[in-house]
Amino acid sequence: MIELPTVALIGAGSSGIAVAKALHERGVPFDCFEKSDRVGGNWVFGNRNEMSSAYKSLHINTSRKRMEYADFPMPTDYPDFPHNSQIAAYFDSYVDHFGFRDKIRFETGVEHVERGDDGVYTLRTDTGETHRYDAVLVANGHHWDMRWPEPAFPGSDTTKIEQIHAHQYKDEAQLDGKRVVVLGMGNSAMDIAVDASYHSSEVYLAARRGAWIFPKYVGSKPVDRADQLFANPRIPFKIRQRALGLMMRQTVGKMEDYGLPKPDHRVGEAHPTISGRILDRLAHGAIKPKPNIARLPSANSTSFSCSRVEADLVVYCTGYKISFPFFDEDFISAPGNHIELFRRVFHPDLSDVAFIALLQPLGAIMPLAEAQGQWLASYLRGEYRLPAKGELVDDIRRDQEYLRKRYVASKRHTIQVDFDEYLLELDKERKAGAERARLAGFALPVPARARVEQPANA
Ligand SMILES: Cc1cc2nc3c(=O)[nH]c(=O)nc-3n(C[C@H](O)[C@H](O)[C@H](O)COP(=O)(O)OP(=O)(O)OC[C@H]3O[C@@H](n4cnc5c(N)ncnc54)[C@H](O)[C@@H]3O)c2cc1C
Ligand SMILES: NC(=O)c1ccc[n+]([C@@H]2O[C@H](COP(=O)([O-])OP(=O)(O)OC[C@H]3O[C@@H](n4cnc5c(N)ncnc54)[C@H](OP(=O)(O)O)[C@@H]3O)[C@@H](O)[C@H]2O)c1
Repeated sequence: MIELPTVALIGAGSSGIAVAKALHERGVPFDCFEKSDRVGGNWVFGNRNEMSSAYKSLHINTSRKRMEYADFPMPTDYPDFPHNSQIAAYFDSYVDHFGFRDKIRFETGVEHVERGDDGVYTLRTDTGETHRYDAVLVANGHHWDMRWPEPAFPGSDTTKIEQIHAHQYKDEAQLDGKRVVVLGMGNSAMDIAVDASYHSSEVYLAARRGAWIFPKYVGSKPVDRADQLFANPRIPFKIRQRALGLMMRQTVGKMEDYGLPKPDHRVGEAHPTISGRILDRLAHGAIKPKPNIARLPSANSTSFSCSRVEADLVVYCTGYKISFPFFDEDFISAPGNHIELFRRVFHPDLSDVAFIALLQPLGAIMPLAEAQGQWLASYLRGEYRLPAKGELVDDIRRDQEYLRKRYVASKRHTIQVDFDEYLLELDKERKAGAERARLAGFALPVPARARVEQPANA
């Protein structure tokens, strides 16, 4: 029997467990390291790993039919947009249903990973253990390392106003009775401004650029349903974009009519901001739009280019950094959220390290992580073979070029993908790679070396 490479999988969030399930089912030997005492990562409110950015009121904004794993539907009594506690329970039951909980080492954080000259990875954990593996799969999430405004606003180091990042927002008690400035136009800003509009005395929503705010429903269907014209991957993007524009005009209208800045881009050219409630709260005057913060000048005031308001709290909903604290920076890092990977998974120079869910879909992350898991399992078994280096690098370059042309230049748009296109293209690539593997006689791309004991004096 062929000896397969041994794998270390870092993280048992919704992405890590999807990969763990695929490896488990396909007989690839692996250990999954999880810092927390449970699976679910970001979706575990109050997660003891202190990495979750969930707040008490959080509901998913991608509909459950988009988010659920293909072979494990969410319970039928779940609503279209379940609460974070329901989502966390769903991930927990996924692990038990497929029976691989014993492969997860809970409360074991990975501190350091290093590739030796023999191509074997040595992994050190915060429990003081070291282990050797042939391949490393990274599923450590990319929504936990806070990106504060860069550069910091003048006065932010001396002001008496409390300043927090969205990651630190947990529940409405933090907002109670305060005059709050929420900065950003992404989904965190929408949710936190809406929460504040019910609990704070004043709420200002500040932005450096406008966004198209999608409703959660179009007619009676969740906005992300693929059978709708603007979400259908078989229709070219430019046509879908027109359909999307028409849908927005008919359902939401102009952003300026709510007092928000006019977006400086066309619909579909930024990560989607989805909120069924913010426009209503703006229309009620419960949230007041403002331009970007100019400075935080004195004890209790915040200046915008047009005005000055009294404030007690600023919530920076300014996004997250992609971080791999366990790799040496000169080995693998993502400065400015920039990292070049083949189809967002494979490192172009290393055949034995791969990333899961390092993407921002126009749609949910979980089915994409699930497809990546199946892909990685085939790869590690020698049933899929990567294209030649030149082809792989060209593919990455085309992808980067597409991103630059399609999306607003921002650190939040370095890993965007369209959900359905990504799955379609991945399917094609898996078939092409299966043929390459057949021609190569199903040779293992990652040799199994790590099990060989090192000499005692090594
Ligand atoms: C507020 C918020 C709402 C969101 N809503 C949606 C939504 O509606 N739909 C959607 O598709 N996406 C949403 N997202 C995106 C979110 O990233 C995904 O839903 C999902 O959590 C990604 O799963 P993940 O497993 O990749 O990462 P995570 O959920 O972050 O899980 C990573 C796991 O890795 C573990 N880990 C990290 N480092 C180490 C280490 N060194 N050693 C061991 N273990 C480690 C962590 O403990 C954690 O369990 C949202 C994000 C945020 C912040
Ligand atoms: N309910 C939900 O399901 C939910 C809730 C929250 C978050 N999420 C998800 O979590 C992820 C992170 O979302 P997020 O909203 O926290 O972050 P985000 O999508 O990265 O948005 C960050 C926002 O902050 C702005 N910004 C960044 N730096 C700034 C600066 N220096 N000055 C002024 N504005 C600045 C950005 O503007 P530019 O566009 O100009 O860069 C953008 O509007 C996304 O995938 C999101 O969909 C989902």
